[in-house]
Amino acid sequence: MTSPASDMQPAFRTAVVPAAGLGTRFLPATKTIPKELLPVVDTPGIELVAGEAADSGAQRLVIVTSPGKNSVVAHFVEDLVLEGKLEASGKTELLNKVRVAPSLLTVQSVVQEQPLGLGHAVSRVEEVLDDSEDAIAVLLPDDLVLPRGVLEVMGRVRRKRGGSVLCAIEVPEDRVSSYGIFETEIVPDAVNPNVLRVTGMVEKPDRDDAPSNLAAAGRYLLDREIFDALRRIEPGAGGELQLTDAIALLIKDGHPVHVVVHRGSRHDLGNPGGFLRAAVDFALERDDYGPALREWLEERLSPNWAAPQLTTDE
Ligand code: UTP
Repeated sequence: MTSPASDMQPAFRTAVVPAAGLGTRFLPATKTIPKELLPVVDTPGIELVAGEAADSGAQRLVIVTSPGKNSVVAHFVEDLVLEGKLEASGKTELLNKVRVAPSLLTVQSVVQEQPLGLGHAVSRVEEVLDDSEDAIAVLLPDDLVLPRGVLEVMGRVRRKRGGSVLCAIEVPEDRVSSYGIFETEIVPDAVNPNVLRVTGMVEKPDRDDAPSNLAAAGRYLLDREIFDALRRIEPGAGGELQLTDAIALLIKDGHPVHVVVHRGSRHDLGNPGGFLRAAVDFALERDDYGPALREWLEERLSPNWAAPQLTTDE
């Protein structure tokens, strides 16, 4: 088992973004457009998550893609023709926006031939890790965890306590059956009360059986031992290799697993309802779109609003 690393070492160098799923909840759009590229206002969700990975100290991003999803990786490649045109026409602001994604991190991809589950997607990354890397961060591009910064806290917890560190968000008790829910215990010497030890994890429990209201959010700092655990688990729900099952195995083996309870907010970009909320939330914060959107929303939500009617009279 890996012992706690020294404070001087970064907790991880590689951030993994699994993006090989089918995105069925977003059909028909995802028939041809990867859901990771759907824009939150004007920026693809995966660029926002890559920015978070870069801010947290990651040096490279490994994107797990499927055979038909080259455009996800292409988003992180410089487009010199486009940049040249924007430069020549003096569109500096747009040029700067276009340059963000390729400049964030070194990007590499691995292909998951078939969508055999999140656990399977993560297992594909082992072959591109250096021998010296003893942990990876996994960021689900569907999940926006706000404000940014939870990965740094998770890194500090790993440096102090070793093992793997996950991220949780409190959800209302009547919503626990939609999430992976943690069973936890207090860490007696923890200075931060939001750091808990994980003793178990239940996928989508009934409200009465849920051990807490702490739901897994899509940020994981996983010890390299996860790859061994992924080799030892059997396919679970839907014939997929579940990351949760491999984490449960680590816990059973006595591997230290902690959770950081993030006292912020989260947007689930993986379904149209959550995506819309994220888009509105982000747009309202912006100087260019916020004021007009707010004005329109107020009008649209006012009791006096009436849907325009077509006049069919002659
Ligand atoms: P989701 O279950 O939310 O994504 O997986 P999905 O399967 O694409 O979505 P639906 O349920 O069909 O609408 C969480 C993350 O794991 C990735 C997805 O791309 C998503 O980012 N994933 C999932 C893989 O990379 N491979 C898989 O086999 C499954």
